[in-house]
Amino acid sequence: MRLSDVDFAQLYREQMARSGRARKPASAWDERARKLRGRMTSGTYAADFIARMDLEGVETLLDVGCGPGTIGVPLARRLRRVYGLDYSPMMLEVLMENAAAHGVDNVVPVLRAWEDDWSDLPRCDIAVASRSTAVEDMAAAIEKLNAHARKRVYMTTLVGGQFVDPEIAALLGRRQEPFPDYIYVVNILYSMGIHPRLDYIELPSRLAGTRDFAEFAERVAWSFGELQPEELERLRQWYAADPERSRRGGAPMRWALIDWEPPP
Ligand SMILES: C[S@@+](CC[C@H](N)C(=O)[O-])C[C@H]1O[C@@H](n2cnc3c(N)ncnc32)[C@H](O)[C@@H]1O
Repeated sequence: MRLSDVDFAQLYREQMARSGRARKPASAWDERARKLRGRMTSGTYAADFIARMDLEGVETLLDVGCGPGTIGVPLARRLRRVYGLDYSPMMLEVLMENAAAHGVDNVVPVLRAWEDDWSDLPRCDIAVASRSTAVEDMAAAIEKLNAHARKRVYMTTLVGGQFVDPEIAALLGRRQEPFPDYIYVVNILYSMGIHPRLDYIELPSRLAGTRDFAEFAERVAWSFGELQPEELERLRQWYAADPERSRRGGAPMRWALIDWEPPP
């Protein structure tokens, strides 16, 4: 078998379907928009992302699945225009609140889904898709980004395809089929004749920094659903066995930052 025989776009679609994470409706994000604003925009993620961008000669940016404008809003002061695209109307409200809080008036909200027609959207210098690529068809998403970026596309996607340390899922007997790993994206790009750059942004685990076991168990339940007494007991043993590991919440979350030059 040759590498060129492998249809990575198809493998991606199959793994996404297998992961069973059905496409969330926009209303699911609407409900959490205000709560998520602080969580998404605090910490070092945005600064780490932006530090890796080449903004030489860049005037316009399309931020896809922008949420509160984690990437687009802090950049708006340095650019002529930032388009924040999201399918959640509440997220776009929060985007505009965040823009006002940053004192910028050049952020344009675009109510649109990945899967919609984008033919009326402008081609910007840069397109960004930050932590927003839970799409069923990655090859189609890449084509859309390429069509709307002149200079460069920047995308982050989860390493390993799981938000919480798989060891904890295994401990609870709740292993989940992962989202497609970042390596599918690299291979899809390769099969399109695009050779991306690759870097990583590491963030503390979602379970990091808990004060005690009760808080830890609560966060685990938020990710996995209600825990049964025997699951709680196994988790308690894991928590007690290594206090330093428990403080870190297990393995950190790693995002692959993939960036490339779109074909002309
Ligand atoms: C995890 S948040 C990321 C927000 C921001 N880009 C960041 O990195 O903090 C994912 C965002 O993608 C949006 N989103 C999810 N599925 C989408 C879709 N099919 N079309 C457009 N936006 C979508 C959600 O509404 C949400 O704002």
